[in-house]
Amino acid sequence: MQRMSYPEIREELEIIWENAKPHMAPKCRCCRECNSVNCRRVESERAKTAERNYRKLQQIKIITDTLYDGGDGSEIDSSIELFGKIFRAPVSSAPFGNVKNFNPNTRFQSDYFFNKALIDGVSDAGCLGWTGDTLDAPGESVYEGPLRAIAERNGLGIPAIKAWNKEEMQKKIILADKAGCIAIANDIDCVGLPYLSVNGKGKVYPKTPEAIKDIFSITKTPYILKGIMSAKGAEKALESGASGIVVSNHAGNVLDQALATVEVLEEIKRVIGNEMVIFVDGGVRHGEDVFKMLALGADAVMIGRTYIIAAEGGEARGVELYSQKICWELQNAMRMTGCRTLKDITKDKIFITREF
Ligand SMILES: Cc1cc2nc3c(=O)[nH]c(=O)nc-3n(C[C@H](O)[C@H](O)[C@H](O)COP(=O)(O)O)c2cc1C
Repeated sequence: MQRMSYPEIREELEIIWENAKPHMAPKCRCCRECNSVNCRRVESERAKTAERNYRKLQQIKIITDTLYDGGDGSEIDSSIELFGKIFRAPVSSAPFGNVKNFNPNTRFQSDYFFNKALIDGVSDAGCLGWTGDTLDAPGESVYEGPLRAIAERNGLGIPAIKAWNKEEMQKKIILADKAGCIAIANDIDCVGLPYLSVNGKGKVYPKTPEAIKDIFSITKTPYILKGIMSAKGAEKALESGASGIVVSNHAGNVLDQALATVEVLEEIKRVIGNEMVIFVDGGVRHGEDVFKMLALGADAVMIGRTYIIAAEGGEARGVELYSQKICWELQNAMRMTGCRTLKDITKDKIFITREF
């Protein structure tokens, strides 16, 4: 894509947001600021966790200081190495399973095309993409189509497998390995999804760290547990042999009245140190939010809902532009705080307000 200025990117994203509206209706209104307040995706009376993710993050501010030697201004480096690959910024699109289910008016024919837009868009921007998993849609596997999109980008993507039984999970791990994925995830918190719980149609259930280690023993690919919300949970993830975790509450879809991800992040980092890669998601909407999450200990960040809007409104180009916007904002926040590399983003660069 031709290099565009930040105002140009924002202008085009406004059009993309408008274009997305018919495809996101009726569950999502494509609000300018996606804060879950008006959100009917999670029924309004049960959107408290998602809203808290966003609100808590906004209660943290960034402390600027531009009195430093900034060279010729081109020295900001937001790149990161993850699982042996270099990315332009620690920003990734989150996994989503079964687009026709959550977006009845989606522009995409199948989960393959939806995820192709996501994976191609983030990859074109130099970022990372994840794919999801759930009960299969009629006539297609919502896991395998998206895996094909990852394989077509030389394995640059991470599929998140649901907490099925051992046999089903291992089948999916083998498929991920065939696609050459750089890492494989398991969204362990999916056990709270109403349509997947043991009482519903699906069969997902909690497992011990030993059981998880046993399931993943068939692969040499690093694995990540998504849905960690406490230091204790992070310690168990470490016991399970995971190389990484995602501090996540599944966009608030698995439990109302949960803590915000940003509230538990620092304690998790304190306990885990550098033993595992720490991803975090929940209410991240701007590059400045990425900066705050990094200051509190995250290595990388995932963004959910707004990437769906970017894909529905502008396919791969929308996703690429949205990624460019986030990267620009992150790099600008780094410039404004004297952070030349991600390592310089430390807690003293942020201010936690009294409301937090
Ligand atoms: C419509 C929708 C579908 C989702 N499907 C999955 C999924 O299949 N697997 C998964 O691990 N997480 C899934 N998630 C959770 C996201 O991956 C991510 O954790 C969350 O959206 C991040 O919060 P945010 O939307 O506030 O950025 C889904 C979220 C949404 C909104």
